[in-house]
Amino acid sequence: MSIEEGKQYLLDTYAQVPVVFASGEGMYLIAEDGSRYLDFVGGIAVNALGYQDPGLQRAIETVVRRGLLHCSNLYYNSEAIAAAKGLTALAGMERVFFCNSGAEANEAALKLARKFGNLKSPKRSHIISMVDSFHGRTYGAITATGQSKYHANFDPLPTGFSYACFNDLDSVKALVTDKTCAIIVEPIQGEGGIIPADPAFLKGLRDLCDELGMLLIYDEVQTGMGRCGKPFAYQVYGVKPDVLTAAKALAGGIPAGAMMTIGKANTVFQPGDHASTFGGNALACAGINEMVSRLGDESFNEHVRDMGAYLHQKLEALVAKYPTLCAATRGLGLIQGIVLTITPRTVVDACFAKGLLVLSAGSNVLRFVPPLVVGRAEIDAALSIVDEVLEELQ
Ligand SMILES: Cc1ncc(COP(=O)(O)O)c(C=O)c1O
Repeated sequence: MSIEEGKQYLLDTYAQVPVVFASGEGMYLIAEDGSRYLDFVGGIAVNALGYQDPGLQRAIETVVRRGLLHCSNLYYNSEAIAAAKGLTALAGMERVFFCNSGAEANEAALKLARKFGNLKSPKRSHIISMVDSFHGRTYGAITATGQSKYHANFDPLPTGFSYACFNDLDSVKALVTDKTCAIIVEPIQGEGGIIPADPAFLKGLRDLCDELGMLLIYDEVQTGMGRCGKPFAYQVYGVKPDVLTAAKALAGGIPAGAMMTIGKANTVFQPGDHASTFGGNALACAGINEMVSRLGDESFNEHVRDMGAYLHQKLEALVAKYPTLCAATRGLGLIQGIVLTITPRTVVDACFAKGLLVLSAGSNVLRFVPPLVVGRAEIDAALSIVDEVLEELQ
C-alpha cells in the first residue's frame, strides 16, 4: 500500500513519517521495501517484548486456536480472571477494571474518583491534575491533561478540573477545597518531557490525600509494565496510590488498558456504573498474562535496570560531547531522554534517514523508549547513529 493512499484515506490526526511498515523482527521494524529500522520508539512504549516474541506469539495463538477471542462482560472468561489476579498481584493492587487504552483507563479512574467524592458529600467532584501532564484524548482525560494546546478548539470541556505545578506541593495545596475528590499524577511525566516526580512530592500528595480523604490516582500508562525497572514506577518510589492506571505495554502490543484499585477505591463502582464492550477480552488478557509472567521474573526487571543504566551512561557521554546541542539527560530505566537546545524533530528526522526510530517528548526532549528486551549491542548501534547526527548538526 502506498503512502499516498494513506494520506488520502486516513484522517490527518498524525504528522506521519513517510514509511509503511510491514513486519517486525526483534528490535527492528521492516518497511514494505525491505529496509530495516532499529526501533527505539517501540510503538511509543508499547512493544515491550519487541517483535516476534515466541512467548507472546504462543499466548496469542493458544487463545486464537481455542476460538474464544471475546465473550462479553456479561460472563467471566478464564483469561480475564487470571489477568486480574496476576496483574493486581504484580502491581500491589487489589482489583481491576479492564478496558482498551490509556485514555479509557484514565476515564474510568476519573469517573470512579467523582463517584467516590459524590458519595461522601454532594458535588465533591473537583479533580486536581498537573501542568504538562498527559492523560489521553477522550474528553475527561484531555481535560485532566494540563496542556492547553490539547484543549484548543474542543470547547466546552468538562468542568471541575484544575492544574497544579508538578513537583510543587504548595501549588497543589493551594488548589484543594472541600469539593476536591482526587489528585491524578504521572510518577514520571512522559509526554510532558520525561520529568520524574521528586519522591517528596509523591509522598506529600499521599499524605495530603490521606489527611483530606481524597483519592490519589497514578497514571502509569507510559511508565508501567516494567519500563522503569520495576513492574510499576511507583514501586521505585515506594509511595502507593489508591488507583493505578496502565495501558500501552500492558498486553505486549495488543490493545488493553487497566484501572486498578486498592482499599477504599475497591467498592466504589457497582454493576451498571461503568463498562467497556471489549475490556478484558480473552485475546488481550492472554497478552496481559504473558506480560505479567515475564515481569514476575526478577531477571527481566534487572535487565531493564541494567540496560537503562547503560543507555543513561551513553546519553550522558553524548551530552558531554555536544554541549551546544544537548543540555541534560532525564529518565529512569528504559524511559530516557536528552534535553536538546534545538528542535527534537530535526534529530528525529535525521536519525530516521539513517535507519533509527526515536521520538520527541515535550518541546525539547529527544525520547528513547525501546522495547524492554533491548541489548547492549542495539544501544551501541542506536547511539552511534545519534552521535553521527549530532556531529552533523553541530
Ligand atoms: C501517561 C499517559 N496517559 C495516557 C495516555 C493515553 O493513552 P492512549 O493513547 O492509549 O489512550 C498516554 C499516551 O501517550 C500517556 O503517556
